[in-house]
Amino acid sequence: MLLFSIINACGGIHNVLRILAPDTRILVEIKDTSLLSSQAKKQNYNKALKQLTYDKAMIKDNEQLASELLEVGKKIAEQQKLSIASCTSPVECEYRPSWHISPPQGLLNDPNGFIYHQGQYHLFYQWYPYDCVHKDKYWVHLTSKDLIQWDWQSVPLTPSDWFDSHGVFSGHALSQNDQLMVFYTGNVRIGEQRDRQTMQCVASSTDGIHFTKQGPVITELPPGVTPHCRDPKVFRHDDHWLMLLGAQREDEVGRLAVYRSEDLKSWDFVGLSGDELGDFGYMWECPDFFTLNNQDFIVIGPQGIKSSSKYHTVPHHNGIVKAQLDAQDKFTLSEFQHLDVGFDFYAPQSLQTPDGRRVMTAWMGLPDEINQPSIDSGDGWVHQLTTFRELYFEQGKLLQRPLSELKALRREQIIVPKDTHCFDLQSKSFELNVLLTWGSRIRLHESSTGYCEIRLEEQSRTLYLDRSNTLMREGDTLRELALPNSASIHLQIFSDTSSLEIFINDGEAVMSSRVFTDKTATKMSFTGDVEIQNSWLF
Ligand code: FRU
Repeated sequence: MLLFSIINACGGIHNVLRILAPDTRILVEIKDTSLLSSQAKKQNYNKALKQLTYDKAMIKDNEQLASELLEVGKKIAEQQKLSIASCTSPVECEYRPSWHISPPQGLLNDPNGFIYHQGQYHLFYQWYPYDCVHKDKYWVHLTSKDLIQWDWQSVPLTPSDWFDSHGVFSGHALSQNDQLMVFYTGNVRIGEQRDRQTMQCVASSTDGIHFTKQGPVITELPPGVTPHCRDPKVFRHDDHWLMLLGAQREDEVGRLAVYRSEDLKSWDFVGLSGDELGDFGYMWECPDFFTLNNQDFIVIGPQGIKSSSKYHTVPHHNGIVKAQLDAQDKFTLSEFQHLDVGFDFYAPQSLQTPDGRRVMTAWMGLPDEINQPSIDSGDGWVHQLTTFRELYFEQGKLLQRPLSELKALRREQIIVPKDTHCFDLQSKSFELNVLLTWGSRIRLHESSTGYCEIRLEEQSRTLYLDRSNTLMREGDTLRELALPNSASIHLQIFSDTSSLEIFINDGEAVMSSRVFTDKTATKMSFTGDVEIQNSWLF
């Protein structure tokens, strides 16, 4: 094994941070130069990058090179898994949710590989273990029998290989008989300019627990597309497979890249879809695809689209479009609408349950909003996943309702004494059902120092979600939702320590939001015509 002799000359696998294989070169990034052998010291060395350069031609056989690179990647992964072991115990923190998925420490972002496979649900998420920053991402793997109780399995994918050295980025899963396959984007940075390379990669498991990387299946970019091309969603269509990727055209317009395959290994580029939406942001991320009531839908995260509200100032949006697929595998997209009109909902993924429901979760956070109170505690953690919602398409309308299994969380009924307008729930973990009329308002997570407010402005028939009186340090503080046709408004609110998720009028709209308040903020108060219906502490 020629590569292993190089690794030994570089001070052994413990001294290797990563291995890269751009163009004709092999680059070995090391930790400590004093461990280099005298032979390695003679090698071309980039001090700034701590990288030694070798020539790929030294291994003549391409297959041998590929398998040696995979072997080295496995060894690096073993090292990475050992060193993150100390990051897997949850840091105690007053903002830690009691039933939502949050990272033990470090930064969580997108949900990945959400699927039902061989009798259980699998869910992965993007994780940077060492700090609350966006850096080389890992995948955490969780499993569940009921979508409520999630068990930590492992960290199956680490940024260990030449094709994903700077992040095992987002992607989806496929259940293929006894195989659980995950498709993801390998993110690589080359040189001092940190030039980005993206490749679409596969890993698979036969026991649903241990994953083996198969390497990249798409190494080239589609023509006219920048290296911002990622987040594969793979699904069966007629007699072949399709892959959707979020992509950025070279003129900085977001689009959907479509590939097709007969065998999930060899992929042909079909084209870019989405021109009918015009100039619709500078990048689209994290596509999903599913059918509801015979209508195909595609989910996208368009960045930089115009916002319809002056209070929505962040570039990141989430949304869903109707999709029409023609015989040439080209999509026509129409009728964009937001999936969530709160503050924190991005990169959603969905699965189909065995009984046919479409269930979705998302990252309850946004790319640029890391500075929040939970990063202060111990080693710090940030972000969480949203609760699960069921999607329906009924009478031409998209409806989103809380997962019915959430009822299992109900512990104790909330009884609000008659004529009370302020009530201490002594908890921030509850489900509240409430009917409000225009002109009323309700405050949640209230203490002497702050609260989060939902108010219904009569004149404009607009619902406002206002988190300006909370401990949020970054991000927008006001969201508005016009509800011109509702005489009264029903809210089903799920609260969990540092979040509120508000389902409006039996699924007409949802607002998801992180809300940081102090420990004592367990009160709720209301003014105007507010009827508290069946509600529960969790
Ligand atoms: C969305 C995203 C994805 C990417 C991942 C990296 O939040 O930027 O496009 O794959 O996060 O963590």
